Amino acid sequence: MKDALITAAMEARVRAHAPYSKFYVGAAMRDENGSIHSGCNIENAAYPQGWCAEPSAISHLIMAGGKSITEIVVIGNGTDLCTPCGGCRQKIREFAAGDIKIHCCTEDGDLIRTFTLNELLPFSFGPENLK
Ligand code: THU
Repeated sequence: MKDALITAAMEARVRAHAPYSKFYVGAAMRDENGSIHSGCNIENAAYPQGWCAEPSAISHLIMAGGKSITEIVVIGNGTDLCTPCGGCRQKIREFAAGDIKIHCCTEDGDLIRTFTLNELLPFSFGPENLK
């Protein structure tokens, strides 16, 4: 049986609205209570108006009352590594410590590689900088 976080990302991915790129992404995030929140990318005919899977998942986490992200799974097409894009890394940073794990999996839910947020976004700027 697959880990629940991976399953949630796989299930989110099949809901992606990506008729333009045909690159379907699912993201799933665990919050500080262990609850899982997921999201997919949602593209738009006016291309720049689309958004990534990660902010969809963050939106669900926040609306469910979650305060922080403790673990993430991201899944793109096939077996290619799909890491969060630069903008998504910063959005994740708002709610996550540098040592959280981001697992990148294949479309079938097999682990390709795990990164920490610090590895993907070193020397980051975050909420602490504004205190
Ligand atoms: N995409 C994501 O959903 N997350 C990422 O971190 C990488 C890119 C989406 C955006 C767009 O709908 C498609 O993948 C192709 O860039």
